Amino acid sequence: YVLGVDLGTSAVKVSAVDRHGKIVAQESYAYDLHQPAPGYSEQNPEDWVSGTTVAIVRLILNDHIRSEDIDGISYSGQMHGLVLLDENNQVLRPAILWNDTRTSEQRTEIMRAMGDDFVNITRNEPLEGFTLPKLLWVKEHEPDIFNQATTFLLPKDYLRYRMTGKLGMDYSDASGTVMIDVIGHQWSEVICDRFGIPRSMCPPLLESVDYVGNISTSYAAFSGLDNHTKVFAGGADNACGAIGAGILKSNMVLSSIGTSGVVLKFEDDPTVNYHGQLQFENHAIPNAYYSMGVTLAAGYSLNWFKKTFAPDEDFSDFVSTASSAPVGSHGLLFAPYIVGERAPYADADIRGSFIGLDGTQKRSDFVRAILEGIVFSFRDILDLFKEQGSQFDTAVSIGGGAKSAVWLQIQADIFNTKVVSLKNEQGPGMGAAMLAAVGLGWFDTLADCAKEFVHFDKVYRPITENVRNYQKLHEIYRQIYGKTADLSH
Ligand code: XUL
Repeated sequence: YVLGVDLGTSAVKVSAVDRHGKIVAQESYAYDLHQPAPGYSEQNPEDWVSGTTVAIVRLILNDHIRSEDIDGISYSGQMHGLVLLDENNQVLRPAILWNDTRTSEQRTEIMRAMGDDFVNITRNEPLEGFTLPKLLWVKEHEPDIFNQATTFLLPKDYLRYRMTGKLGMDYSDASGTVMIDVIGHQWSEVICDRFGIPRSMCPPLLESVDYVGNISTSYAAFSGLDNHTKVFAGGADNACGAIGAGILKSNMVLSSIGTSGVVLKFEDDPTVNYHGQLQFENHAIPNAYYSMGVTLAAGYSLNWFKKTFAPDEDFSDFVSTASSAPVGSHGLLFAPYIVGERAPYADADIRGSFIGLDGTQKRSDFVRAILEGIVFSFRDILDLFKEQGSQFDTAVSIGGGAKSAVWLQIQADIFNTKVVSLKNEQGPGMGAAMLAAVGLGWFDTLADCAKEFVHFDKVYRPITENVRNYQKLHEIYRQIYGKTADLSH
């Protein structure tokens, strides 16, 4: 078996996967998120280690996975979180997570200091959630801690360090620090020098499938794992999610509807440049990249509506009422900016709207308008890909959007692209298991591994008449942002 460790924000999930990609056992363990002040979001790195250990012990004791049968382990990690270590590799302060927003001043400082030069090196804007602004915050507000720090890591890199004793960071996660030259595959001396980050704090860079070492003797004794088990670097959760969904070629995009939504495109051409309007990251596949846009309130918008107007109804019954409304929901349009937006408008203050109420719409029109509005916002991100000349012909739908036939068809019609869902969707943990499987040499490439591990389900094709209607509605939808921005601010 291989173990795929998915180190998330609310829990860690560990999956034992066999050589055919079948999940034979799975255990998870939840941990706390601390918000000591408004906008702060922190976790105790020790909780990640103990949570993962509990899940592994349960796999061995409750699910009877024998430690001698575990050949390899790899990781998928929540991105961007800052873990600071002292010279003895002891944690200096709680980790500052990706969804912590205390760093607005640092974000502005970085852009003031470097502007477009920064975006050209990192291919990203230094958003609040990313790691460099967090390092600068600690440097300014907790200089004693910063001065004691000799290394910084990201969440799953710290977990891997505790399991192997080896320090390192893979490119896919390192690109989320906004401190590497994404195309040059190295820490940016320019950025380190400009912001006073000693180059020695940056750990060695690795490919996601790289062998890092074996499970250390001390962690083996602690967890019940065996010292023969090989450990592979792993990747960022979005990269692993993409791999687990088979996004391995430049004709493919991912359409993921969770609480927030992610539209992600495989990129093999490093010259494509979104100038920071989308995130652009190293993929967990050597010499590949992905671009990504986030819709902050995707499933969140639907959950809000259901909680408010249909709290007692079964969720899938509620969603399927959308099929009794027509394309365009009798003229009702919804813009899902209810908690602000990230892409294509990085605007924390914009708010959502329903447009076109005329007194005839039924509740089913509202439900459908919400499904359509979320997909229109995804379409805006797809249009940014196209504006830069990126081509794609298949969207893989995961999360809530893949659980409803009507929503899958809406995606095909609004994207004007073939949409497929997955059989047995597993999320980033499957991508992590695939990295271990390739690292072990079970397969030559991730693409070969995907042939065995990832299986597509039904295909939804665009219906010409719906495509035409949605095209017209999208033209109107696109104007909502500009016309409501002043009212929201
Ligand atoms: C990506 C991001 C999130 C986290 C969640 O930039 O901030 O998707 O990776 O774990």
